[in-house]
Amino acid sequence: MKVGFGSDHAAIELKAVLIEHLKAKGYECVDYGAYSAKERVDYPLAGRTVAEAIRRGEVDRGVLVCGTGIGISIAANKVPGIRAGVCSDCFSARMIREHNHCQIIAMGQRVVGTELAKMIVDNYFEAEELGGRHADRVDMITQIERDYGYADAPVR
Ligand code: RB5
Repeated sequence: MKVGFGSDHAAIELKAVLIEHLKAKGYECVDYGAYSAKERVDYPLAGRTVAEAIRRGEVDRGVLVCGTGIGISIAANKVPGIRAGVCSDCFSARMIREHNHCQIIAMGQRVVGTELAKMIVDNYFEAEELGGRHADRVDMITQIERDYGYADAPVR
């Protein structure tokens, strides 16, 4: 599986930790920046970049980090067909995949410690999408996008 990583300048340290962690587990990791804590990279750009890479099929899933994980996930969620969930705990990390079919997990470097963050991404990547009522609800989210004119919204 190919995983795209993105962060703003406030979270490059956690991004680097998570890239090493997932590389060691055999995931192919693509780093879309930011590359320096000294150079300002605004979180909307970072979130958009990884979300669009998923839309293009360049990577299968994404890991986004900013100070809180919130701004970067809001930006990613604006890309049609993309679902990003912010997590600070392992249970939610599993649920955003099983119930919400999120292609992106987001976290905050100012919120979670590095060891917890590693456990959180492990829970996310070990989880699988559940069908049935959960898939129906994800379809309802897609329908919202269609209702606003994004006919090509679905992304696997
Ligand atoms: C940057 O200072 C900070 O606002 C950003 O990393 C993030 O927390 C936004 O949601």
